[in-house]
Amino acid sequence: MCRMSPIKIGSSGEFSLGGENFVIEIGVPPKDQHPSTPEIFTIVKNDVFLDKLFEPSRMSAVEIGSEPVPPLVDYISRTENRFVHFATSQCDGEKLKQIVVDELADELDLVVDDASHSYEETKASFEFLFPLLSPGGVYVIEDWSWAHHPDYQSPDAPFSGRPALSNLLFEQMMLLGSTRLISEIRVWRFLYLIHKAKGAVRRHDMSQNVESGSVFDQIVSRGKEWSLI
Ligand SMILES: C[S@@+](CC[C@H](N)C(=O)[O-])C[C@H]1O[C@@H](n2cnc3c(N)ncnc32)[C@H](O)[C@@H]1O
Repeated sequence: MCRMSPIKIGSSGEFSLGGENFVIEIGVPPKDQHPSTPEIFTIVKNDVFLDKLFEPSRMSAVEIGSEPVPPLVDYISRTENRFVHFATSQCDGEKLKQIVVDELADELDLVVDDASHSYEETKASFEFLFPLLSPGGVYVIEDWSWAHHPDYQSPDAPFSGRPALSNLLFEQMMLLGSTRLISEIRVWRFLYLIHKAKGAVRRHDMSQNVESGSVFDQIVSRGKEWSLI
C-alpha cells in the first residue's frame, strides 16, 4: 500500500520529504555532481525519492557499482525493511529472485528500472521480474528513448553500437497484443509503465530459467521475424 505526499521543490532543486533532505542534480554532468552527504541526498531524477514518496512496507535496490554510498547505507541501517545491494547487476536473475523471496516477503508490487538503460540488460531484468510481479502490479522503465535524442545520433555518442532500448518497448507492445499478461502500457517521453493484468498469474516458474524460457516466447507474430534498430 502506498501514500502520496506533496513535495515543494526549491529553486536549486532542494526539498525535504519524510524527514530527509534532497537535492536534484538532473542534467548535471556526473563529474560535477555533488556526492550524497549525511545531511543531504543527491538524486539524479525529477522530484522523486521513491521510498519517501510511496512509503512501501519493504524496498530493495541493486546497484552495479561496488562502492557503497555511506549516507544511503546509513539511511538503510536506520529504516526497517530497506535493503541495498552494491556490486550487483540487474541481470543477476538468481539474486533478483532471492531478493524478492527473502527481502520482499515474496510480494512484488512495483519495479523501477533506472539502471543500465541498455536493451539487453533491461530486457533480462524484465524477463526475471515480470513473472514475479503481483497481478495488478506496475513495472516502470526509465530513459527508454535515449536512441531518439539528438545527443545520441553521432557514431561516437555513448551506446552508438548498442540496440536502442525502444526495441524492448516494441516487444512489450507485441506481448500486450499477444497475451492477457499486460493490461496497459503508458508511455511518456522519458519513461513508461507496464500494468500487469489483474487476471494474470504470478508464477515463479515463469521467471527466466532453462525450463521455462522467456516471457517473450509468448509473442505471436504470424511467424514473421523482426529486427532490432
Ligand atoms: C541513471 S543512474 C540512476 C541513479 C538513481 N536511480 C538516481 O536517480 O539517483 C543509473 C545507475 O544504474 C547503475 N547501473 C548501470 N548498469 C547497471 C546494471 N547492469 N545493474 C545495476 N545497476 C546498474 C549505475 O551505476 C548508476 O548508478
